[in-house]
Amino acid sequence: MSNNKTEGRALTFSILKYNPLNKDEKATFVEYQVTETIGMTVFIALNIIRETKDADLSFDFVCRAGICGSCGMVINGKPLLACRTLTADYPDGHIQLMPMPAFELIRDLSVNTGKWMDNMSQRVESWIHTNEEHDITALERPVDPDIADETFELDRCIECGLCVSSCATALMRPDFVGPAGLNRVARFQIDPHDNRTDADYYELIGDDDGIFGCMSLMACEDHCPKELPLQEKIAYLRRKLVGQR
Ligand code: SF4
Ligand code: FES
Repeated sequence: MSNNKTEGRALTFSILKYNPLNKDEKATFVEYQVTETIGMTVFIALNIIRETKDADLSFDFVCRAGICGSCGMVINGKPLLACRTLTADYPDGHIQLMPMPAFELIRDLSVNTGKWMDNMSQRVESWIHTNEEHDITALERPVDPDIADETFELDRCIECGLCVSSCATALMRPDFVGPAGLNRVARFQIDPHDNRTDADYYELIGDDDGIFGCMSLMACEDHCPKELPLQEKIAYLRRKLVGQR
């Protein structure tokens, strides 16, 4: 939809507000009216609401450009980045905002994805495992360009958490390593610098909180703003690790 056609519309934002530190408070939807401008994103509208109507409203952002992964939230039922979501894409002008599930709620629309990602990184041992001595004076060891491309592709994850909040298993199993975690394992599994074997990866994620917890519903890939091939990589890992049972 062209934003030029929707400029000047009255938008109604219905935003779930809740402060978990205030035990007497109940989660409540609060409505705000905003006049649409050309190219308005949900992120821009939230800033207008905070500047002109509710200085108390909590939400996260850093880059405003789909890079930092901070502004994930549930927009009319779908996990999306607020800074990449145009208000013009909502023809009736009603936009409901809720915090992403699966993460610790900080307040209103702000959730602690950093804590979740840190736990996941520890859980999948998200670093190169090698016994080789590292000589910083030696020339870099060349890597097959196709493998380098594949590694860089999976490294494009911005840790926004949209895949996790759209994953049914992650919502049912708090210890599930999630699509972002399985993507991280896939990244190290193809990296020739990492000496871990398939048996090692089976030890790490060979259970229902790991690779066998995925139900292949594909919502993770549908919602990933970086269009990472999550389902392909999860299926690949599952095929590799099922042989280790
Ligand atoms: S895999 Fe995609 S949706 Fe999931 S955290 Fe990374 S960038 Fe976000
Ligand atoms: S503010 Fe950085 S991704 Fe939206």
